[in-house]
Amino acid sequence: MTITATPITPRFGAELTGIDFSQPLSDATVAEIRAAMDVWGVCVIRNTGFDNVGHVEFSRHLGHLEKAPAVKNRPRRHPHTPEIFDASNLTPEGEILVDENMVLHKKGDRLWHTDSSFMAMRSAYSLLLCYEAPKEGGLTYFADMRSAYEDLPADIREKIGTLTAEHSLWYSRLLAGFPVTEEEIDARPKALQPMIMPQEATGRTAIYIGSHAMDVVGMPKEEGRALIKYLIEFATQPQYTFGVSYEPGDLVIWDNLATMHRGGDFDIYNERRDMRRTTVREGDAPEQADDPFTAYFASSTPSN
Ligand SMILES: [Fe+2]
Repeated sequence: MTITATPITPRFGAELTGIDFSQPLSDATVAEIRAAMDVWGVCVIRNTGFDNVGHVEFSRHLGHLEKAPAVKNRPRRHPHTPEIFDASNLTPEGEILVDENMVLHKKGDRLWHTDSSFMAMRSAYSLLLCYEAPKEGGLTYFADMRSAYEDLPADIREKIGTLTAEHSLWYSRLLAGFPVTEEEIDARPKALQPMIMPQEATGRTAIYIGSHAMDVVGMPKEEGRALIKYLIEFATQPQYTFGVSYEPGDLVIWDNLATMHRGGDFDIYNERRDMRRTTVREGDAPEQADDPFTAYFASSTPSN
């Protein structure tokens, strides 16, 4: 089988066609998908016909899948597939979510970010599948962190090459208006991440940053936050970004180590948006089941 990649922008993003989902995926097809991801960073596959199980099985071909956290007092929407991260605006009963804290929590996803950068064990691919899309809005926007890195002024490239940033999920929530203080965030786990991410497969390098990035190690807070802001703004200029709109069954795969993304606005109180995500851990992942997200949330003692 030969997959066709149709570019979305000249350097970044492609739609893939030619994958036969009625057959088990061959190693050759998986290798073609990986190769397309290396080149394009984001790949869109329309009309997959996947349900939760098909989504998880397809994703497993690409590596070790993260488990979504079990959160106290909040039942899973998809209890039989713990690999499914619920990215909807719906309750477990399928109603539109009206809990203000949860709405604010999810609002953090509208800021430019890289999935799970607040975890020491980084995520590589995210695979987001559409079940229901709003009539208007609700796109996902992507930023090309490799091209942005290549276009940075040389002195900035050199400067960030040796720097490390502290990431916290709760910092992006704070930026989105969630009721949490900097003191509370400082008492919760953070992850240290390099600010650049070399990519072995292509020899290219990406800026590794996003709204979970709170401070730069060894730099005064103000200076570090100004640098983070500069990098996010630089990388989200129009020439590095595009949006993906969805119909049910459409799947978008992005490489968190080469991109940032954000959810687009829509009428969250009146429009249903049911999106579900699987997430592939970076590198050689352990064979045994592991669940660092639940531990992260438990140690974060969220107020909701
Ligand atoms: Fe995300």
